[in-house]
Amino acid sequence: MSNYHIKHFEEYFQVYRKSINDPIAFWEEIAEEHFSWRKTWDNVLSWDFSKPEVKWFDGAQLNITENCIDRHLRNRGDKTAIIFEPNDPSEPAEHITYKQLHERVCKFANVLHDKGIKKGDRVCIYLPMIPELAISVLACARIGAIHSVVFAGFSSTALSTRIQDCDAKMVITADGGFRGAKTIDLKGIVDDALRDCPTVKSVLVAKRINSNIHMEPGRDEWLKPLLDDSYKDYTAEVMDAEDPLFILYTSGSTGKPKGMMHTTAGYMVYTAYTFKNVFQYREDDVYWCTADIGWITGHSYIIYGPLANGATTVMYEGVPSHPNYGRFWEIVQKHKVNQFYTAPTAIRALAKQGTEHLEKYDLSSLKVLGSVGEPINEEAWHWYNDNVGRKKCPIVDTWWQTETGGIMITPIPFSTPTKPTYATLPFIGIQPTLMNDEGEEITDNQVNGKLCIKFPWPSMARTIWGDHKRYKDTYFSAFENMYFTGDGAIRDEVGYYRITGRVDDVIIVSGHNLGTAPIEDAINEHPAVVESAVVGFPHDIKGNALYGFITLKETGETRDHENLRNEINMVITEHIGAIAKLDKVQFTEGLPKTRSGKIMRRILRKIASKDTDNLGDISTLLNPEVVASIKDNAV
Ligand code: PRX
Repeated sequence: MSNYHIKHFEEYFQVYRKSINDPIAFWEEIAEEHFSWRKTWDNVLSWDFSKPEVKWFDGAQLNITENCIDRHLRNRGDKTAIIFEPNDPSEPAEHITYKQLHERVCKFANVLHDKGIKKGDRVCIYLPMIPELAISVLACARIGAIHSVVFAGFSSTALSTRIQDCDAKMVITADGGFRGAKTIDLKGIVDDALRDCPTVKSVLVAKRINSNIHMEPGRDEWLKPLLDDSYKDYTAEVMDAEDPLFILYTSGSTGKPKGMMHTTAGYMVYTAYTFKNVFQYREDDVYWCTADIGWITGHSYIIYGPLANGATTVMYEGVPSHPNYGRFWEIVQKHKVNQFYTAPTAIRALAKQGTEHLEKYDLSSLKVLGSVGEPINEEAWHWYNDNVGRKKCPIVDTWWQTETGGIMITPIPFSTPTKPTYATLPFIGIQPTLMNDEGEEITDNQVNGKLCIKFPWPSMARTIWGDHKRYKDTYFSAFENMYFTGDGAIRDEVGYYRITGRVDDVIIVSGHNLGTAPIEDAINEHPAVVESAVVGFPHDIKGNALYGFITLKETGETRDHENLRNEINMVITEHIGAIAKLDKVQFTEGLPKTRSGKIMRRILRKIASKDTDNLGDISTLLNPEVVASIKDNAV
């Protein structure tokens, strides 16, 4: 039996038990047998959740790109590493072999080096889903620079905040990006963002849309001539196991985004191991994850996990609906995709189109279907199972987070019996538990609790960049000696977990995490606004959508409300990005508050969800009279 590749349900239990009974021996064996190290570790694991401090494979030395690229060159040099599928179906796909990937990453690494980027420097990457995105990520890792990829749908203000937070020295971007029928002026957004970013000394620009852009002399340079002139080999920097690999920002329920910092060895081991098992990847398979590399799913399961296994990974530049809703299925047919990993929001949008598009394509290559990012509702699960997988492909509903680095609760396909809406069982090495509000572990079934993890796993984030206290307060303070996920969950009688959603003020819209506080801060910037509260409400495609309750300085009919709504959404788009726009806006006379002045979101959530039969006790509110009028005027 190989602990690295689990093929049966019994094997899962055996390996799981091993991983829990003796985690050190277990992870040591996985790390030793399946990765290449410049030097092995002195200590497999040391941890203390009260600090919190976690170290995996301490003392080891490695470079993750040697594991993702170099070690495959001998046997898989001519195998395709990345298939780039462009936005426009008439543009040919690009197949990048491991050899070519090696050369392109090395050339890019030389460019970074020549621009003065050194080990430990932060490089911000703001690119569309083109090969340069994966290559620049790997080039940073090759020279030991810490990449911070910012999703290219974020606004200039959001980009600027993220660049400033980690003091990035360089930004890598493109003249623009294609997204469906639209183009996005990425370089213009970068120029705006950089007005407040004195640490950025250079900007490298990939050419994608051939637009006429401003190039700042002394700062901006086109990437292509630099790459053309650069040498095709680059000796990988030797990194310590716990050296930072990347920072990736995620929304918090309060304040500015949290720069989750991931380190090298543990992240590599865990993402590779989960990839192999959760997707049951076999040597000649073609794997496709539809996420953007700007999110953790793209980091772990488009780049690092697949490449560490010598896999062929598809990168798609566009959207599911362009030029029509058959695009995903056309790509599956064209590249004979075996494993397909997407988000429930995409499944719901595709399901809404019926099966007409699906029927035009041959999907017989598919073996495993994945879901990630938010709870998958029963209807979407069945549509995916019946129509895309034709009841032959297990659905892996994978629960995890930016913070966890890799998949935590998931079925193992062909082993774990699946159950709609259940992420099922913990992955190898993961020790989840449910806690009640009294801080006790819940042992009963079907009781809603707060999902926590009791023991460290290799790919957990080590800190929030520049704010270790916030890391501790957010994740390690709610319950003693546990990592608190911020999610609620229940467990059924066989131990399967069902994630019920966030228990904090983070709302997941179309699979994207959005904190309410930053959106409210943006709304409050509008000169007509006194204060605001944003809550989620159920939406058939997005899962949740945003509802804003907003109090204006001037009330009554004197304001053009339609206009104001648009203006407020424009302010949000400017501060955060279009993903955070409000679907519904209600202007209110006031917001329900506790006597200490806290907005009672619970009541607003109920009103937004049209669940107003029982609003609970409102008599203790400071201003109970506003509730009736908010309820009567709900949109
Ligand atoms: O609430 C959970 C939800 O997404 C959150 C993490 O979001 P993010 O850091 O952006 O990472 C998304 C991709 C890993 C979680 O706290 N979530 C993620 N996967 C699932 C899920 N909720 C239910 N079921 C899932 N499979």
